[in-house]
Amino acid sequence: MSEVLKEQLAINGGPKAKTTPNFPVWTGALEIGEEEKKQVLEVLDSKYLFRYYGPANVKSKVKELEKRFAAKMGAPYALATSSCTGALISALVGCGVGPGDEVIVSGYTFFASCAAVVTAKAIPVIAEVDETLTIDPADIERKITPATKALVVVHMRGVPCDMDAVMAIAKKHNLKVIEDVAQSCGGTYKGKALGTFGDAGCFSFQFHKIITAGEGGMVLCNDERTYNRIMGYHDTGACWRPERYADERFEGELFCGSNYRMSELTGAVMLAQLDRLDYLLAGMRRNFKRIYEQIKDTPGIKCRPVNDPDGDVCVCMMFYLDAPEKVKPFVEALKAEGVAAEGVFNAGIPDWHIYAHWKHVMEEKTPTEVKCPYDCPHHNKAPHVVNTPDMNPNTLEYLSRVVHIDIVAQMTEEDCDMVAKAINKVATVLA
Ligand SMILES: Cc1ncc(COP(=O)(O)O)c(C=O)c1O
Repeated sequence: MSEVLKEQLAINGGPKAKTTPNFPVWTGALEIGEEEKKQVLEVLDSKYLFRYYGPANVKSKVKELEKRFAAKMGAPYALATSSCTGALISALVGCGVGPGDEVIVSGYTFFASCAAVVTAKAIPVIAEVDETLTIDPADIERKITPATKALVVVHMRGVPCDMDAVMAIAKKHNLKVIEDVAQSCGGTYKGKALGTFGDAGCFSFQFHKIITAGEGGMVLCNDERTYNRIMGYHDTGACWRPERYADERFEGELFCGSNYRMSELTGAVMLAQLDRLDYLLAGMRRNFKRIYEQIKDTPGIKCRPVNDPDGDVCVCMMFYLDAPEKVKPFVEALKAEGVAAEGVFNAGIPDWHIYAHWKHVMEEKTPTEVKCPYDCPHHNKAPHVVNTPDMNPNTLEYLSRVVHIDIVAQMTEEDCDMVAKAINKVATVLA
C-alpha cells in the first residue's frame, strides 16, 4: 500500500476517498415499496385490522406472518408482538422469570434487553462482552449466583453469540436462555437460525432493523407450554387463547398479562419485508466481504472477530484500533473522506447501547419509592448484586477502541471500494 501523506487526508484538504452519497436509512426501510403498499391496502380494503376478528372470511396477516416466520427460521412456534421489548418481557415472564430471580444480561446491547428484565421484576446482572462484542461465556460463569434464573444473550450488531458455550453453561446450571435477535434477523450459528437455540428468541422490526415495519417484534419458541405462557402474557393474560373462557389447560397458563399484540397493518408490512430478507442478507454479506477483503490485513486495524463468520448478517463493519485516543481522530478523518463512521464508547457521550450509561439501572431507579425489584424480599438466595459503571472493564475497553460503519444491501461495488479505500487511507496516517 502506498504511503499517504497527512496532507492527502480529506480532513486536511486532500481529495475525498468516497464521493458517492451514504444511505439515509437502513436496509429494509430502503426497500419499502409496492409490495408493502399492496399488503397494507388489502388490510384496509378488508377492514380486518385486528388479528382475532373482523369481517368474515379474511385471513389474518399476523397469523400468516407467524406461520411463515416460524417456517423460515425452523422453529415450531412463533408469536408476533408489537416490539422486541414486548417480546423480551413476554418471553422472560413466559419462561418463569420473576421476583427473586437474577438474569444475566450482556453489557453491550440496546438498553431494552436490560429494561425487560427489570420490568419482569427480576434483578439484572450485567456481564462482560468479549472481543466479538457478544456476551463473554467466562463472565457468565463468574456472575452466576444461586438466584440466577436466566440469561439474556444478545446477537449484537449482526454477530452470533458463542451459542455452544452459552447453551452448555445454561444446561450445567439449569438456566433459561432468552436470545435477543433484534439486530440479527436471519443470522445463524453453525447453520441453525439465531433465536432457535434457547427457550425463546426475540426479534425486532423497529425502523433501524434489517426488516422493518417501523415497529414490531416476534418471539420464537421451541416448547408448547412456554409458548402458551408467552402468548398469554402478551395478550392481557390469555384473553385470546383458543378456548377463551376455558379453565387453564395446565397449571401456570392463566395469569394477568399485558398487551403486546401486533396489529394487522404491521403484519401486512412485515409479510412484504420477510420476502425481502434473503435478498437483503445476500447484499449485506456481499458488501461486507468486499470491504473486509480490502482491509483485513491493513496494519493498525483489527477487524472484529466473529464466532461463526458464516452466520454473521453483516449489518456493519467494526474494527479495533490499538488505543482509544485514536478513535476520535480516525472517525473524524473517515467522515471527512465521505464515510459515515462512528466510534462506539466515549464516557462523556451517553449511548443507551453501553451498560455504563444505563443510569436507571446503575442508580436503581424505580417508578415509585418502593425499590422493586432491587429490594425484593423474595431475592434471598444470594446477596443483592449492585451493578456499577465500572463492573465490566473489558467491555468498556473493547468498545472504546472500536470503529463502526453501517452496511446496507443497496451499496454498490463502487461504494464498497470507496469505503475500503477511505479506511486504508486513514489507517496509513492515523492507525
Ligand atoms: C439489541 C436490541 N434489543 C432490543 C431492542 C428493542 O427493540 P424494540 O424497539 O423493537 O422494542 C433493540 C432495538 O433497538 C435492540 O437493538
